[in-house]
Amino acid sequence: MRRSIMLSCGSYLPKKVMTNSDLAKLVDTTDEWIEQRTGIKKRHIAGEGEKTSDMATFAAEKALKKANLTGKDIDMIVLATTSPDNTFPATAVTVQANIGMHDKGFAFDIQAVCSGFIYALATADNFIKAGQVKRALVIGAEHFTSLIDWKDRTTCVLFGDGAGAVVLEANDNASGTKADRGILSTHLHSQGEFRSLLYVDGGPSSTKTVGHVRMNGKEVFRHAVTRMSEAIMEAMRENDVDPSEVKWLVPHQANKRIIDATAEKLNLSPDSVVMTVAEHGNTSAASIPLALTTAVEDGRIQRGDLILMEAMGGGLTWGAALARW
Ligand code: ACO
Repeated sequence: MRRSIMLSCGSYLPKKVMTNSDLAKLVDTTDEWIEQRTGIKKRHIAGEGEKTSDMATFAAEKALKKANLTGKDIDMIVLATTSPDNTFPATAVTVQANIGMHDKGFAFDIQAVCSGFIYALATADNFIKAGQVKRALVIGAEHFTSLIDWKDRTTCVLFGDGAGAVVLEANDNASGTKADRGILSTHLHSQGEFRSLLYVDGGPSSTKTVGHVRMNGKEVFRHAVTRMSEAIMEAMRENDVDPSEVKWLVPHQANKRIIDATAEKLNLSPDSVVMTVAEHGNTSAASIPLALTTAVEDGRIQRGDLILMEAMGGGLTWGAALARW
């Protein structure tokens, strides 16, 4: 049986850091309010002229290097972003050119907001399982702060910029059991009737502007815990996995309270949760590969560990992926 092995990961954070106290100089907020309600202490902000493709390229190059590969070894790039360099072409094709993936393969973007990385991982996994590609680069990259209304204290305190990438490779000798390394299953969902809970109030065919993030925070919070718990249960059920077998929960990093509530609801130990929201804020599609890379690089996630990734975002979109690292 064919499985997609996660060979390596890499990430990139812009140099500029904005603390909660820095934000308190822009809007009527406090360090205490932000930390108490979200767990966020600081976030990274892209530098002048630094684009989503630049951050994505840095993360991709780090992941490729760790796998001893170059762009020439990659057949496909799937890049999840809500903040592309341009309306078109896809940011993924700029990364394709940057990493020297010439005369071969294909690259495209995926738009599922904060669930983007799970959607991109599921897409690449399915291309690999279908036998169409051997190696894929899955990237989540966001210049999310370019979508922020810096006068709106209910949203501007939440988000940050960054990128993360994972290299996937086909393994044709998998046993087909949960003991296999690689992606065991992915689960995607969306419900368009809730799109007005979290959206950007601009776009080419509506206002011909880029627009700003608008959100009903309380409702999004409510849906997030319910939907992400459902997706996690779906993934565990499909693979006959008990919560005690999950070594690491690598959730979308939106809010510490959402992550804590989800882990508690599912009886997952707080010690098994990778939490980077304090340092990164919500980096949308980049948040899971950023958290994954942090925990792999600091030695928490070891080869063979069962990891559960989950996210929810605008759309509403949500999903989960269960994998053995
Ligand atoms: N600083 C100080 N006060 C604030 C701020 C701020 N930055 N923002 C709002 N307030 C005020 C409100 O005006 C309100 O004041 P009032 O009581 O006088 O009316 C009070 O704080 C409470 O506001 P609530 O919106 O009720 O606060 P809540 O506890 O719901 O927290 C938050 C708000 C943090 C946005 C929360 O709802 C949340 O995290 N929701 C999830 C949203 C999210 O994570 N979205 C990201 C994308 S989706 C995803 O990634 C899952």
